Amino acid sequence: MEKNNQKLLQIDELKTYFYTLDGVVRAVDGVSLAIKPGETLGLVGESGSGKSVTAHSVLRLLPPKTSKIVQGQIRFRRRDTSAEIDLANVDPHGDLIRSIRGNEIAMIFQEPMTSLSPVFTVGHQIIEAIRLHQGSSAQEARQKAIDMLQAVGLGMADQLVDEYPHRLSGGQRQRAMIAMALSCRPSLLIADEPTTALDVTVQAQILDLMNSLKERFNMAIWIITHNLGVVAEMADRVAVMYMGRVVESGDVRTIFHQPLHPYTVGLLQSIPKMGAQIKNRLAPIPGSVPDPFSIPAGCAFRTRCPAIAAHCQAEAPMLEVEPGHYVRCCLYA
Ligand SMILES: Nc1ncnc2c1ncn2[C@@H]1O[C@H](COP(=O)(O)OP(=O)(O)O)[C@@H](O)[C@H]1O
Ligand SMILES: [Mg+2]
Repeated sequence: MEKNNQKLLQIDELKTYFYTLDGVVRAVDGVSLAIKPGETLGLVGESGSGKSVTAHSVLRLLPPKTSKIVQGQIRFRRRDTSAEIDLANVDPHGDLIRSIRGNEIAMIFQEPMTSLSPVFTVGHQIIEAIRLHQGSSAQEARQKAIDMLQAVGLGMADQLVDEYPHRLSGGQRQRAMIAMALSCRPSLLIADEPTTALDVTVQAQILDLMNSLKERFNMAIWIITHNLGVVAEMADRVAVMYMGRVVESGDVRTIFHQPLHPYTVGLLQSIPKMGAQIKNRLAPIPGSVPDPFSIPAGCAFRTRCPAIAAHCQAEAPMLEVEPGHYVRCCLYA
């Protein structure tokens, strides 16, 4: 058995920068977060806060010429040996990361066609993934693919296996992508805005599906979303990200009931309230996300913060305000 304090993934002080013609984008600027085996971590924050770049750093899926991991560690515990490797330090094109990607860490995206190819049948793609990672025979792999399509709730899986992705509905495609991701039994599933493109009913079904598959396959889920409703539905713990940094983290109840960072408070207030007048439904955080070339010095949120204090010009340290509840805000220093 895993020890309770043993982490599956531990990211420490990660910095990932882009080098563009307009200057350096500090997309991830000192992120630390950890995921235990079997747990669901929700990473939330507005668009542009660096969530996807953090995930792409882990899988080393960043554009090679224009980006760089400039600092930090990404420690990942291997499935069979329990050995820990630092993914920040592996060759992004080497065999090691290839054997981890899709095999021990799988990723699903907002747009299923990012991972499903339009020119192959759904089954072909799952079968290839199974054969590549598990070395099964063609016959075995086909049966495993059908089983997997059934496991994600697709009816008539023995027929769907021979269909092309464009013949499926949006929800069915999302299920097929999940089937492909899970066919290699990853210990970590990274889901980056997996339901953002789906309508509300299908969204709820996919979240339910992921919750039940997590139990069944005993994996950890890292769910990335701008939608706090999705986090409430899925996560055990939550990390809130703003401008390339985690500003608050804690268990899901604490974050929803006792948020401390003014940014978290603002995000929670902007959740649409059921039954409220359309006009009064959203209380968005005032102002907009600063552009990535002019991140304010000190606390990056201070240009929008309703609780601005003089010492916000200095960088706020991450404080553990109570066990397991961390906040990066000078109000609590
Ligand atoms: N390939 C890239 N080149 C330059 N900047 C990028 C690139 N990808 C992302 N960024 C920038 O990095 C920041 C974080 O982006 P991202 O991680 O996609 O945000 P999120 O997923 O939270 O919406 C943004 O300012 C974005 O413009
Ligand atoms: Mg994103």
